[in-house]
Order: sequence, then structure tokens, then C-alpha cells
Amino acid sequence: MEFKKLTENITIPVLGLGTWTIGGRDEADTTHDKEDVSAIKTALQLGVTHIDTGESYAQGHAEELIGKAISGFERKSLCITSKVSPEHLTYEDLITSAKGSLRRLRTDYIDLYLIHAPNPDIPIEGTMKAMDHLIEQKLIRYMGVSNFSVEQIKEAQKYAKNRIAANQIEYNLLVRDKGRVTENMESKIIPYCQENDILIIAWRPLANGRLAKPGYKILDELSKKYNKTQAQIAINWLISKKRIVTMTKSTNVEHLKENLGAIGWKLKQEDIDRLNNEFVR
Ligand SMILES: NC(=O)c1ccc[n+]([C@@H]2O[C@H](COP(=O)([O-])OP(=O)(O)OC[C@H]3O[C@@H](n4cnc5c(N)ncnc54)[C@H](OP(=O)(O)O)[C@@H]3O)[C@@H](O)[C@H]2O)c1
Repeated sequence: MEFKKLTENITIPVLGLGTWTIGGRDEADTTHDKEDVSAIKTALQLGVTHIDTGESYAQGHAEELIGKAISGFERKSLCITSKVSPEHLTYEDLITSAKGSLRRLRTDYIDLYLIHAPNPDIPIEGTMKAMDHLIEQKLIRYMGVSNFSVEQIKEAQKYAKNRIAANQIEYNLLVRDKGRVTENMESKIIPYCQENDILIIAWRPLANGRLAKPGYKILDELSKKYNKTQAQIAINWLISKKRIVTMTKSTNVEHLKENLGAIGWKLKQEDIDRLNNEFVR
């Protein structure tokens, strides 16, 4: 595994495991629990140590499955990210949400706790004070945001004693400008985060699997040139960038192994430039 700096004191793996759709989507679906726990354990055995989740994923069931899967692993070796939903951003609600996630994850602390998305209807001051409180209580180690614009990051940071360590945004070869945030990522959000030492965690790196198959000309060419799969090229392109890490969701062991094969080698700068400039979406 390769790592990048999360804050002054701690690093984070360049590739983690996403858990959106594990255990259900907007509601819990327990049909595949056994296979899902087993897939998360397999990912950990293969060397994945960062797991990304959120209280809304399968209405908390994704967190429950992670809690089961990590029980036999050394907690210190793992980095767990979870997210508070935008409807739970008052001071009291955020603390209740964090405690719910801790209970479902069966852990004493969350490494990185993110605001899943901004909510203009709830004043951010109380939200950030609750984040500070959770850090003081050692219930979370670091805090961050997700789907925030530059102005929203600046506004949130004004009210917090602790630093916003990360912004999780939709970013992949196919989604380069706005994604879920209403502002350009490549010209605005990413440079701002890079210059202000805020880690960017790119979500949906494979565009939900669309980048993990043949069909895009440059990806197909580079796949032949490097003897890597399209998914490996797409992930390597992301992590070649300063202050960017990512995570893919997979419960398929072959896909997990394939995605881990995106690490440990580097695309040449000329090919990164081609993907930057010529990738046809
Ligand atoms: N902050 C936010 O608002 C936000 C929003 C969305 C997602 N996220 C996070 O980001 C994570 C990753 O994004 P995502 O899950 O939406 O999309 P993704 O990782 O780009 O794609 C996941 C899909 O691709 C398939 N896949 C994975 N590796 C593959 C491979 N090597 N070959 C073929 N198919 C492959 C998976 O199926 P298999 O399981 O069959 O491999 C799954 O259907 C999420 O799980 C979640 O943790 C955050």
C-alpha cells in the first residue's frame, strides 16, 4: 500500500474500500450479509486499511457490517471514515449521529468524520462546534467535509478550532468539472484544497464501473501500453495527483485484487497529460 499525508501526524492509504451499496442502498437489505462481511474481511486481508462509509449507507447497516468485519483486526492498523448526513447537522444531532456510528461500527473512535454534504438550512457554526467537541472527547480523530465548495469550506473553517483535514468529492476521468458540487473541481476546489493542505478524497473513481471496461480510446491504448487494466489506469491517474486519494467499492475478490494492482507503479507524465487533456467523455 502507498500512503499520503492526511495531516501533519498521520497518513492515509491512497486506495481504500468504499461501502456504498454494501448492505443495501437507502434501506438495509440483509440478504447478502454473510458475503458482504466476508468481502470486507478479504479486502482487509489483501492490505486495504481505509474503509469509507456513512450513517446513511443502507440506513446504518453498512456500518454494522464493517463493525462485524473489523472485529478480528487490530483497530490501530485501520483508518475508518464515516459521514454524518446533512439532515443531522445541528450540534446535538451531530453528536447523536457520531455516537450511533460508533455503536454500529463497534469502535471507540472514528478516524475521519465528514459532513456528508452541506445543508444551507442548518447553521454551520453549531455543526463545527460539535465536530470540535467530538475531537476533544477523542470520539473522532480528524474532521472533514464532503461535496463542499471553496466558499463552504472557508465558512465552515471559520467556526472550528480544529482543521478541516479533507474534502471528499466526486472526481474521476468522466466527472471532471462539477460533479455533485456546483463549482468546478479542476479549476477551483482541487487547487484550493491542494494549496491549503486539505486532502481530497475522490469518490466514485471508476464511475460506478464504467471506467473498468474497454470502450474509451485512450484508456484502451494505455491499458495495452502498460499491461494494466482500464480500472488500474483510471485509479493510477487519480492518485498520481497531489493530495488526492480514493476508494473503490467492490465485494468481488477479483475486482478487489485488480484495483489494488493500480498501486505500486506510475503512469508517465506524458500519459497523465494525455488523460488530463484528451480523454473524451
Ligand atoms: N461523499 C459522497 O457523497 C459519496 C458519494 C458516493 C460514493 N462515495 C464513496 O465512494 C465510494 C466509491 O464510489 P462508488 O462505490 O460510488 O463507485 P466506484 O467505486 O467508482 O464503482 C463501484 C462499482 O464498480 C464495480 N467495480 C469495482 N471495481 C471494479 C473492477 N475492477 N472491475 C469492474 N467493476 C468494478 C463495483 O462492483 P463489484 O462490487 O461487483 O466489484 C461497483 O458496482 C463509495 O462506495 C462510497 O464509500 C461517497
